[in-house]
Amino acid sequence: MQEIHFAPLQGYVDNAYRRLHSQIYGGVDCYYTPFIRIEKGEPRRQDIARLKASVGDGTPLVPQIIFASLEEFRILTEVVKTLGFNRIDLNLGCPYPMQTNRGRGAAMISDIATMEQIVKQIDSDCSTSYSVKMRLGKDNPDEWRSLLPLLSSVKLNHIAIHPRIARQMYSGDLYIDEFRSLESQSSNPIVWNGEIRNIGDLSAHTNAAAIMIGRGLLARPSLATEWRNNEEWQHAMRIATLLEFHDRLLSEYEQTLCGQTQILQHIKPFWDYLEEEIGHRCLKAIRKASTLDRYREAITTIE
Ligand SMILES: Cc1cc2nc3c(=O)[nH]c(=O)nc-3n(C[C@H](O)[C@H](O)[C@H](O)COP(=O)(O)O)c2cc1C
Repeated sequence: MQEIHFAPLQGYVDNAYRRLHSQIYGGVDCYYTPFIRIEKGEPRRQDIARLKASVGDGTPLVPQIIFASLEEFRILTEVVKTLGFNRIDLNLGCPYPMQTNRGRGAAMISDIATMEQIVKQIDSDCSTSYSVKMRLGKDNPDEWRSLLPLLSSVKLNHIAIHPRIARQMYSGDLYIDEFRSLESQSSNPIVWNGEIRNIGDLSAHTNAAAIMIGRGLLARPSLATEWRNNEEWQHAMRIATLLEFHDRLLSEYEQTLCGQTQILQHIKPFWDYLEEEIGHRCLKAIRKASTLDRYREAITTIE
């Protein structure tokens, strides 16, 4: 059976979310960190602190890095390897101008000169297995065509493709024909990433080496395990498990964060993609809650 990967989702899938998701739901073979980046010439401290804190927590985790140059790549891979990781994911997909204007993320798809240096470095590093997560391009859906032969010249764990261009951000039509063309030309395994919401969507991608799911798992955290066990969870079971997941996450945030404002800031996004599951009124009450008491009250209305 194909592997299911939980896509990196900055602001949603943190250490505690990943660990509890894997303990409570399972069904996911591999999780990724949000991208780790260079800030003021060194690896961003909070990224490294979070990565350090995840070591040994039992969740199958791949750190993801974003870089603008061979130098940034070297600094980041070194620090990640020092923490004991031998799998690293490379972000060639981030669409945000904050990163692309610095030559990172989706901008790296067409920076062939830098990617030649990176590929050389990957090729000479036998201790680490690399994967790439990319879009089809930054501005055009055929940008991948110049990069793919280079990526095919080196052995990668896989290339995960979100078949959009950066300008589309996270919505709009998927370029399926370009994806198929890329898939047929790649010498590395291709992982599908994009718009998987239910078991039917998963079944449409049985040719892919693995399937990476982001928002679909936020909206239905049981999706991977339902698919794996070929068993649809009824609403009552989904809600009961969701509440257990939420309660354990909230209790972790209460132990590790300081003050109601911070705790609410971290826990409220948990519900952002769950409107279909809990209803509009509940979600509105959750978002409106300004104290933990009010927040808890709102949660008790979920049925
Ligand atoms: C809020 C948010 C944060 C994201 N953070 C990252 C990230 O740190 N690294 C990355 O490679 N992709 C990131 N992505 C992209 C997702 O990993 C994924 O490629 C995208 O959501 C498409 O997959 P989906 O349709 O299954 O959600 C993010 C997407 C969203 C919506």
